[in-house]
Amino acid sequence: MELLTERLRLRAFEPADQLANIAMNLQSEVMRWLGGPRSADKTLAETEYNNRTLGEFGYGKVAVERRADGAFLGVCGLSIEDWYPDDLEIGWRLLPIHWGQGYATEAAKAWIAHAFSTLNSARVISISDVPNQRSIAVMERLGMKLDHTGELEIDGDRFEAVVYVLGNKDLA
Ligand SMILES: CC(C)(COP(=O)(O)OP(=O)(O)OC[C@H]1O[C@@H](n2cnc3c(N)ncnc32)[C@H](O)[C@@H]1OP(=O)(O)O)[C@@H](O)C(=O)NCCC(=O)NCCS
Repeated sequence: MELLTERLRLRAFEPADQLANIAMNLQSEVMRWLGGPRSADKTLAETEYNNRTLGEFGYGKVAVERRADGAFLGVCGLSIEDWYPDDLEIGWRLLPIHWGQGYATEAAKAWIAHAFSTLNSARVISISDVPNQRSIAVMERLGMKLDHTGELEIDGDRFEAVVYVLGNKDLA
């Protein structure tokens, strides 16, 4: 399956994405709030996992392609995180050259609409480290509201997180 927006195609990862995807996940600027740079092996395992959830369940954190030229811009989509197993989480990560153009918000809007209309989710959450202002700004542009803050743990590291929520009745 794939989702189309005005400028983007949201689809499974393809082999041609992998160089750019691996390069993105190796950048400290991108991965600062995502546990630091990720090895190529981990990135490939992550893409395989997300392609599988897309095929099996109709969601995944998968590729964002620009329709105009087929460029791989980054990753956006839905996943279930261990901290909140009853909720779909929306997340995003773009190559820095593509920041500041509204692509993350556009991609996330389409995934959220899909969660509500096709997956019948009552709500979608988004989780961010407290200092990750660019990510929190995307949540606010999407109309998500702060639900709570709290300490979460990943691989033994604790961090202060904000959890934003959008309910299917909150959409205008
Ligand atoms: C988080 C992240 C995806 C946000 O990217 P972003 O480009 O800032 O967000 P958007 O795609 O929504 O773009 C919004 C910006 O584009 C601008 N913009 C330009 N053209 C636009 C258009 N046609 N439509 C909407 N916005 C547009 C907006 O004004 C806004 O600019 P501003 O940042 O100066 O206010 C990016 O910073 C990133 O990849 N960070 C690293 C990974 C990460 O931390 N992920 C989250 C983990 S919780």
